[in-house]
Amino acid sequence: MKLLVTGGAGFIGSAVVRRAIAEGHSIINVDSLTYAACLDNVATVADADSYAFEHADIRDPSAMTSVLKKHNPDAIMHLAAESHVDRSIDGPAAFIDTNVTGTYVLLEAARAYWTDAGKPSGFRFHHISTDEVFGTLGETGYFTEESPYQPNSPYSASKASSDHLVRAWHETYGLPIVLTNCSNNYGPYQFPEKLIPVVIHKAMSGQPIPIYGKGDNIRDWLHVEDHAEALLLVLEKAAVGSSYNIGGENEMTNLELVKMLCGILDRLRPAEKTYAEQITYVNDRPGHDRRYAIDPTRIVEDLGWHPTYTPETGLEQTVQWYLDNEAWMNALLARDGVGDRLGIAK
Ligand SMILES: NC(=O)c1ccc[n+]([C@@H]2O[C@H](COP(=O)([O-])OP(=O)(O)OC[C@H]3O[C@@H](n4cnc5c(N)ncnc54)[C@H](O)[C@@H]3O)[C@@H](O)[C@H]2O)c1
Repeated sequence: MKLLVTGGAGFIGSAVVRRAIAEGHSIINVDSLTYAACLDNVATVADADSYAFEHADIRDPSAMTSVLKKHNPDAIMHLAAESHVDRSIDGPAAFIDTNVTGTYVLLEAARAYWTDAGKPSGFRFHHISTDEVFGTLGETGYFTEESPYQPNSPYSASKASSDHLVRAWHETYGLPIVLTNCSNNYGPYQFPEKLIPVVIHKAMSGQPIPIYGKGDNIRDWLHVEDHAEALLLVLEKAAVGSSYNIGGENEMTNLELVKMLCGILDRLRPAEKTYAEQITYVNDRPGHDRRYAIDPTRIVEDLGWHPTYTPETGLEQTVQWYLDNEAWMNALLARDGVGDRLGIAK
C-alpha cells in the first residue's frame, strides 16, 4: 500500500515508517519538524525508492490538499501531534492548534481527496490516539473500547477532541476511518524529555533521577515496535469505523520502572554505586492520572496481535540503544528548553 504517515519524524511515527518500508509499503512522511522531530529517526530508510518526505504542517489546508493530490495515497496514518503532557500544562494552545485544528484540517483534506477519487471503499484514515483519553483508573479495572472519555490534561483533552472529530467524520460523511488508543510506549528514538530516556540520561550524567510524587502512578508499557506492528495490522485488517485499544499488559509503578532501569544500567554500565541512589522525589504533576491499564482482548481476538517484547527484553534493548546512541540523545538535549522541568503550574 501507499501510506501517507503524518508525524513520521517523531518517536512512534518513525517506527511505523521504518516497519512499513520493511514490509514493502510505500511511505510519504508528512512532518512539520517541530522541536520533537528528528529526521535521523528515519535515516535507515530515507534513501529507499519507496520513501518520500514532505515538510508540511497538518494545520495548512492547501499543503495537505496538494500533498494528497501529488502522492495519491491508499491510506493516511495520522500520528502528528503535540505529545508531551508536561508541555500541555504550560502551553495548551499548541495542543489545541495541532491536535484539534490540525486533525480537523487533515480530515477535511482527506474527505475532499476521497470524494474526488469516487469514495473508494478501500481508503482508510487511521487516527492514532492514546489511552489517556479515558482518564484515570482506580486500583482495579481496565480501559476497553467502550470506556467513557474522561480526559484530565490539556494533552489528553486535545487527543479526545481529535478522536471525536474522526468518529464524526465517519458517521456524518462516511469517511472510512479506524481508530486506535494505545498505552505508554517506550523504545529507541523516544524524545529525551519522556520518562525512560530522562532516567537513562540523568543516571549516566550523574544527576538526580526525578520521580514525580511518590512514584506510585501506574502505567501499562508497550514497546514501540509492538505498537507499530499493531497499527499496520489494524490498518490492513480492521473493519471500517472500528476502534482498538492496544496495550502490553505490563503494568508498573513509575518507581518500579525506574528501579528496573537502574538495575539494567548497573549491569550494562557498572559504576561504583548503584544508579538507584540517584533517585530523587520531586513535586508531582498537577492532575497526574493515577493508573492506566488496557484490556487488549479485542485486538488479540479479532486480529491475532500479540506483543513480542516482555518488559525485561524490551527495556534491556532500549537501554542498550540509548547507551549506543549518545550523540543522537545529546543533539536533541541541546535544543532550546529541552531537559527543563515543565508542567508544574497549577
Ligand atoms: N508516546 C506515547 O507513549 C503514545 C502513546 C499512545 C499514543 N500516542 C500518540 O501517537 C502519536 C505519536 O506520538 P509520539 O510519541 O511519536 O510523538 P512525538 O512528539 O515523538 O512526534 C510527533 C511528531 O509530529 C510532528 N508534528 C507535530 N505537530 C505537527 C504539525 N502541526 N504538522 C506536522 N507534523 C507535526 C512532530 O514534528 C513530530 O515529528 C501522537 O498522536 C500521540 O498522541 C503516543
